[in-house]
Amino acid sequence: MAKATEQQKTAGQGTVLPRHIAIIMDGNGRWAQKRGLPRTAGHAAGAETFRRIARYCRDLGVEYLTVYAFSTENWKRSAQEVSAIMGLLKKYLEEAIEKMRRENVRIRVLGDTSVLSPDIRALIARVEAIDETLTTHTQANLCVNYGGRDEIVRAVRAWESDPAHGELTENELSKYLYTAGMPDPDLVIRPSGEQRISNFLLWQSAYAEFYFTDTLWPDFTEKDMDAAILAYRSRDRRYGGVKK
Ligand code: IPE
Ligand code: IPE
Ligand code: MG
Repeated sequence: MAKATEQQKTAGQGTVLPRHIAIIMDGNGRWAQKRGLPRTAGHAAGAETFRRIARYCRDLGVEYLTVYAFSTENWKRSAQEVSAIMGLLKKYLEEAIEKMRRENVRIRVLGDTSVLSPDIRALIARVEAIDETLTTHTQANLCVNYGGRDEIVRAVRAWESDPAHGELTENELSKYLYTAGMPDPDLVIRPSGEQRISNFLLWQSAYAEFYFTDTLWPDFTEKDMDAAILAYRSRDRRYGGVKK
């Protein structure tokens, strides 16, 4: 599939390839359970799937891939599961530092990272510094300790305390979101059979197309991505206007 055309970037015009795809990476626990494995084995498998799908999006020419890795509500899980997920995040970031130039996918972490451990925060800073030197057209946003409502509240607070802020408009507030400067997601994919948003990109997905599949995230393949993009292409995006 070709890179996004100028025409496609215009609202309501051709929908060849989404510029921005967002994924709620759900179903890791059930994937593991089905195999008699601990939930953490599902998270490890899910991390590999992310790596594979990020490369695929790069090959397709998708500009932004935003994935939900850990929500502001996921702290409710057992300390053991949370620490396993944080361990996987650390491992992923360490490996990314070695592989980023080869893989040529820019990585950004979105969410309230201030409460993460100092070693993870240092790794995020290193990854984001490498990010500046890459030539890639694909950016992967990893949402960690991310919540859509939390993001909006933080944006309002940041706007309020910014002495240089402009008049409060939708466009103005967008500048204070984690996704500042990025286009809104065109397509939001949720695997695992659940059909809810679970506090993901509430503001940004106002006019996103949604795609749900029963496939559990660790089993999600390039074919599933093709199916999601194909479904997206058949949608008629009207943005509140009338059918052309
Ligand atoms: C998604 O998989 C990963 C995180 C929320 C961290 P789950 O762990 O939610 O898997 P299920 O939904 O229990 O199968
Ligand atoms: C959403 O999945 C969060 C992530 C995938 C990181 P959850 O498994 O936490 O969502 P709910 O609890 O089923 O809504
Ligand atoms: Mg889940």
